[in-house]
Amino acid sequence: MLTATRRLPFSPDAPDAITEAAALIRAGALVAVPTETVYGLAADATDAAAVARIYEAKGRPSFNPLIVHVPDMAAADALADLGETGRLLAHRFWPGPLTIVAPLRAGAPIASLVTAGLSTVALRVPAHPAMQALLAACGRPLAAPSANASGTISPTRADHVLRSLDGRIALVLDAGATGLGLESTIVGVTGVGATDGTLRLLRPGPITPEALTAATGLPVSTTDNGSIEAPGQLASHYAPAHPVRLGATEARPGEWLIGFGPVAGDRTLSPSGDLVEAAAALFDALHEADMSARAGIAVAPIPEEGLGLAINDRLHRAAAPRD
Ligand code: TXA
Ligand code: MG
Repeated sequence: MLTATRRLPFSPDAPDAITEAAALIRAGALVAVPTETVYGLAADATDAAAVARIYEAKGRPSFNPLIVHVPDMAAADALADLGETGRLLAHRFWPGPLTIVAPLRAGAPIASLVTAGLSTVALRVPAHPAMQALLAACGRPLAAPSANASGTISPTRADHVLRSLDGRIALVLDAGATGLGLESTIVGVTGVGATDGTLRLLRPGPITPEALTAATGLPVSTTDNGSIEAPGQLASHYAPAHPVRLGATEARPGEWLIGFGPVAGDRTLSPSGDLVEAAAALFDALHEADMSARAGIAVAPIPEEGLGLAINDRLHRAAAPRD
């Protein structure tokens, strides 16, 4: 076990940090790296021992498969059969916050621990320059779940990463706050995903169902309540330490209120009711509320439309009963 986690600033004109991060990855170590959604905890996806260290560092149940990050569509195509629909989606949304679940190609050099033994793999081409630079420098597909201990709030800043993983990983590349603040949309295109010409929304995120339909002409199916279908998505995945109450228009005694629109709160996700601004602020606000001296967290109502689907999905997980 490591004693301290190093923190290096990322900037495109200071390539040393990336060179160092790539060397660590090739040696089987873990590096936290910003993406446009949240910080990811990256390891060489072809190295089973390195991938095992992800599960160890996060304390994550080993049945939960990981997203594989690749530099471009050609690299994705070498690992999985995207099919016609997957290619349409990739052309429209990559690089960007969309993860596509597709059948793994026979002989693809992905450690089976990454897919938890499934015949499908979750692939994403990220847009963030730090993750793109790391992919280019190490020349390996990178397995990267969110860089936080299992069951805690996803990290949108290097500080959040260190809060739960300090001493458990080699390095965090710090590029400030992530732009989107919510994990990628996950869509299934075959097998686990689309059957009979529909897309399956496995996790709501920045790319909305409407946008998926606009790109493919295909309807998007979700479960009745629109909840996550990806395996291993525990109900309490995004749990803060304090209890969370949703739909709150005012704080009860002892509560820290996260506002939205007309509800100002102790801190607001967006005073104007802008869902994009709210998504970017969500995990940061939950971290701040959780660090406050108050015993509980209340959150203002968020409309169930557009990005609000993804925000409410994360909030329901944060509020789910713990065992
Ligand atoms: O924005 C993101 O997607 C971030 C950044 C770092 O890229 N990553 C992320 O990874 O959120 P993670 O490991 O926290 O989420 C992986 C999700 C899980 O819900 C998992 O169940 C699902 O992807 N998943 C992975 N492989 C799958 C597969 N073959 N079939 C269905 N779901 C899969
Ligand atoms: Mg996560």
